[in-house]
Amino acid sequence: MAKRALSAQDIQAKKFEANQLFTPSAPIAVAELFAGRQQQAQKILEAIGERGRHVIMYGERGVGKSSMAQIIHYFLPRGPQSVRHVRVQAFPGDTFSVIAKRIFSKIHFKADYGEGEKAYNVSDFYPGEVTIDDFLNEMSLFKAAEIPIVIIDEFNEINDPATSRTLANIIKSLSDEGVNVTIIIVGVADNVGELIEQHESIERCAEQVHMPRMPVDERREVLEKRLSQLGMTIAPDGKWKIINLSKGLPAYVHALGKFAVYNALDNGRIAIGEYDVDAAINAVLESSQQTLKDAYENATRSNQARALFRHVLTACALAKVDDAGFFTPAAVRDPLSDILKRPIEIANFQDTLGDFAGKRGKILDRTGEARAYRFRFGNPAMQPYVIMRGIRDGIVNDAARQALSSPEQPDLFPTG
Ligand SMILES: Nc1ncnc2c1ncn2[C@@H]1O[C@H](COP(=O)(O)OP(=O)(O)OP(=O)(O)O)[C@@H](O)[C@H]1O
Ligand SMILES: [Mg+2]
Repeated sequence: MAKRALSAQDIQAKKFEANQLFTPSAPIAVAELFAGRQQQAQKILEAIGERGRHVIMYGERGVGKSSMAQIIHYFLPRGPQSVRHVRVQAFPGDTFSVIAKRIFSKIHFKADYGEGEKAYNVSDFYPGEVTIDDFLNEMSLFKAAEIPIVIIDEFNEINDPATSRTLANIIKSLSDEGVNVTIIIVGVADNVGELIEQHESIERCAEQVHMPRMPVDERREVLEKRLSQLGMTIAPDGKWKIINLSKGLPAYVHALGKFAVYNALDNGRIAIGEYDVDAAINAVLESSQQTLKDAYENATRSNQARALFRHVLTACALAKVDDAGFFTPAAVRDPLSDILKRPIEIANFQDTLGDFAGKRGKILDRTGEARAYRFRFGNPAMQPYVIMRGIRDGIVNDAARQALSSPEQPDLFPTG
C-alpha cells in the first residue's frame, strides 16, 4: 500500500493532539485517558457505596494518586443519584478551619433568601473561623439524592499535628453518625500512620488504599491508548524501552512517549522507532526539572577524573528493589561489576552509598541498622533520570541497554 506523506498541516495537528494526550506534568482529568488501577478503584468505589466508610490513599510521589482521586467518580455506576465531587489541596501551615473553608468554597448551591434565586458557596456563610460542629453540620446537609465525595489531596503537607488529629476525629464522627459523605484523604507516605495522626481511631471506618508504582501492563496501556488515538505505531524495542525506563512512574511514560512522537513526526513518520525513543531520552533529560539536574551534580561532583560516583549511582538506579523501593548494597554489586567490567566487592563502594545518603546531598534515603542498611532514592523521579543519564553518558553498558528494550526484565530492571 502506498503511503501518503504527512503534510506540514497533518504534523502540526498531530503534535497538538499529542500534547493533549501526553500529560507528564498534570494529573489525569479525563476518565478515557486513565489507564489501569482497577483494584484500587474498586476499593474506593466500595467505600463510597458504603455509608460511614471513608478512604485514605497513600503512596510514593508521582505514582498517580491525584489522578485516581480526580476521576474516581466517573467509575460510579450511573443511577438516579448525582455526584458532588469536591477536591481541595492542603498546604503547609493549614489549620482545620482553613481546610474546612476551602472545602466549603467548593460547595455551591442555589437559594432564594429574599433577593430572588442566587448562587452561593457554603463559605459565604462563614466569614469567621469554622468549628468542628460547623463542619459536621454542613456535611450532613447533602441531599439523599446526592453522592458527596470530599477529597483532601496533598495531606502530607499538613505540618500541624492538631489539624491532622482533628480531621481524623471528624472522619470518626461522620462515620459514627452515618453521615452520607465520603472523605478521601490523599498523600505521599509509605503507610497510613505516616500520613495521618491517630490513624488507629479510624482504622475500622477508613479503607486504606495503597497506590503502588504502575505495573508493566498498565504502563503499556498508558502508551498504547494514546498512540492508537493518534493513529501512530511504535516498534516493540522502543515501546519496551519506554515502559522499562519509567520504573512504574507514569509521568515518564508520558514524557518519553510525547518526545518520541514528536521526533517521529518531525521526520515525517507515524511509525515510531527505537531511535525516536533514544532522541526522547535526550529531550527528557534536557527538559527535566532543575532540581533533578542539581541533585545529580551534587551527588556525583568530584575533582578526580577517576572518581566513580556516577557509576555507583547508576548501579543504584539499576539495583533490584523491594516493595517499598529499597535496595541493599548487595543488589548494587552486580550492576556495578557489569558497569565497571570487573568484580566489585561491597566494601569498595559502601562508603559512597553512605555519602549519597549524607554529605552528597542526601540523594538516597537510608534505613535499617548498621551492616544491614537499605537505601532508596529520596525522590522516586531520580531513579529513571539516573538511568537515562547513564545511557546518554555511556555508563550503562550495552547488555543492560539491550535488556531495556526487551519485554520482561525481572532481574536487570525490576520495577518495585
Ligand atoms: N492511571 C493513569 N493513566 C495514565 N496516566 C496516569 C495515570 N495515573 C497517573 N498518570 C500520570 O502520571 C503522572 C503523575 O500522576 P499524579 O499527579 O496523579 O500522581 P501523584 O501520585 O498525585 O503525584 P504527587 O505525589 O506528585 O502528587 C501524571 O503525568 C499523570 O498524568
Ligand atoms: Mg498528587
